[in-house]
Amino acid sequence: MTERVVDVAGLPGEPLPLARPREVEAETSAARAGGPAPDWQRSDFCGTLRAADEGKVVVLDGWVQRIRDHGQLVFLDLRDRTGVVQVTCDASRTPEVHAVVRDLKPESVVAVRGRVRRRAPGAENPRMATGEIEVEPERLLVLAAAKTPPFPIGAHAPGEVDERLRLRHRYLDLRRPEMFAHLVLRHRFVKAARDFFDARGFLEIETPMLTRSTPEGARDFLVPSRLEPGSFYALPQSPQLFKQLLMVAGVERYVQFVRCFRDEDLRADRQPEHTQIDVEMSFVTQEDVLATMEAMMIHALGAVGRRPPGPFRRMSYREAIDRYGSDKPDLRFGLAIADLGPAAAGLPFPPFAKALGEGGSVRALVVPGGARLSRREIEGLAEEARERGASGLVWLAGGPDGWRGPLARPLAEAGDDAAARFLAALREGLAGPDGEAAGGLEGSLALLVAGPAEAASAALGHIRLRLAERLSLVPDGRDAFVWVTDFPMFEWNEEESRWDAKHHPFTAPHEEDLDALLTDPGRVRAHAYDLVWNGVELGSGSLRIHRRDVQERVFRAIGLGDEEAREKFGFLLEAFEYGVPPHGGMALGLDRIAMLVAGAATIREVIAFPKSASGADPLTGAPAAVDPSQLLPLGIEVRRGAPKA
Ligand code: AMO
Repeated sequence: MTERVVDVAGLPGEPLPLARPREVEAETSAARAGGPAPDWQRSDFCGTLRAADEGKVVVLDGWVQRIRDHGQLVFLDLRDRTGVVQVTCDASRTPEVHAVVRDLKPESVVAVRGRVRRRAPGAENPRMATGEIEVEPERLLVLAAAKTPPFPIGAHAPGEVDERLRLRHRYLDLRRPEMFAHLVLRHRFVKAARDFFDARGFLEIETPMLTRSTPEGARDFLVPSRLEPGSFYALPQSPQLFKQLLMVAGVERYVQFVRCFRDEDLRADRQPEHTQIDVEMSFVTQEDVLATMEAMMIHALGAVGRRPPGPFRRMSYREAIDRYGSDKPDLRFGLAIADLGPAAAGLPFPPFAKALGEGGSVRALVVPGGARLSRREIEGLAEEARERGASGLVWLAGGPDGWRGPLARPLAEAGDDAAARFLAALREGLAGPDGEAAGGLEGSLALLVAGPAEAASAALGHIRLRLAERLSLVPDGRDAFVWVTDFPMFEWNEEESRWDAKHHPFTAPHEEDLDALLTDPGRVRAHAYDLVWNGVELGSGSLRIHRRDVQERVFRAIGLGDEEAREKFGFLLEAFEYGVPPHGGMALGLDRIAMLVAGAATIREVIAFPKSASGADPLTGAPAAVDPSQLLPLGIEVRRGAPKA
């Protein structure tokens, strides 16, 4: 096992002074062995001792990582949060320590007093940061014995230890250096972000946790009121309205590292509670917000050893959807979606003519080297495209002996001009919008979807990500940040037959689209933006509405009657009567940032005490039933077997 040393520079650098009661000491075997009571004040950390410390008398505290019993010699690997050091116990020199150590169980907590010495030539361990030295103990104090832990406290391959078990004993899981490193990483990032904002005059202000529902699109977690039985607080899905009210209050620059609560289906990058870096600024343009947040990201990522290439790319929502089939495009690799347009119409292939005739399009991914995929794999992709709403996916693979696939025949039957136009369009598709991939079509694979433009792109966008995995298209170590801008203000909610705010209803529409708010909501663009890192949405924000009449029109556009709007958001509308500065902001998901920096597969890996994938906490047993006597004053009665929402 390679030992990973957590760099604790920046954490409290000095060992914490810790006085120990003499009676504890008296009970230890070391004390039983007689002699003056040693000074047990911790002097050093395990992981930071080096050859330069040779000869130093140290007092170390930590956990027993491992005992290797070689008879006369017993090796104790002692671990604290900085790393591991070897304590070598020789029966001939300190028999009493040797005897105690032999019987120690891993994860027991001990203090060791001893002398640092160089390891014998040939006994060094270059894989350990402390591998040049060892500690020869004089005394050892057992501070707490441990039971055998349910899983080893070393490196695990992902999935090697059941996640429920890890969560059930999270305090043990967090002892693992990689997990501790995640906590350090979060701390450093937040510290750097906080310093950044502080230096620019942002005020950190807390907003209420017991509040009223904010429409961020998820269900609320509700808290019943005892003083007003039958009424409920909602835990905030975000501090959106409060931060806007702080702008009305004249705060001008606000930041909060804030816990937000959303009762939604969980995924690898979603938890019921998550932390946002929440920001709001007055008298700013969209450019000001983007520049501030981008500079903060570069600064704080630098504090955790990442140097993102700046400036971040910009892309309109339209381009992201058309070219990458997603509003969170992964731009670490090319493979943009091509619109074959009229070139597709020249092929005698009825589905193309039909789609184009109905105002749709024919879109394609032209995959360099894709011809090596088997027919079966390609059919698998076609199936996935259908599951994603495409009516079908046809393909054409260029081999040394000519074309293969369902389009080979229509291509052969097309006139020379039409075939040439079609192939030229594919070649353009292969080159991509920036002309990044050159080369001929031989060996490449074109995957085509005909139909409504957005559905075709969405299906191909999904296939694009599958291909990136299958063909290893993402270069090692590459990072791609992109600002996606100009989101539409609304999206059509098919189920409820109404327009929903795409971001949230406090987002400012483009001035020139205000007329269309009630007549053609689908056309209205918003001053809304997202920050995307390697295909993961890190955060979103917008300039806000600061006029009461516009806010009221937006409420109406999303089907919120005047009465209901006043009932729910009257306090905001009223505040708008008293002089609102133009303002805007955004919120970044801290857990997602930490997940990406750590290279973790889920945000659960970077949260100290997360909920499991099913929303439970195996450690405390939350959520749990409560005693009926707690419910009584709340006026709540639980109906067993009530249908699940
Ligand atoms: P939004 O809803 O996009 O915007 O949230 C901002 C960012 O918070 C993170 N996030 C989550 N992370 C983990 N688990 C979740 N369940 C979860 N939900 C959201 C994401 C997301 O991009 N008030 C607006 C911001 C604004 O307009 O200023 C808001 O909350 O990284």
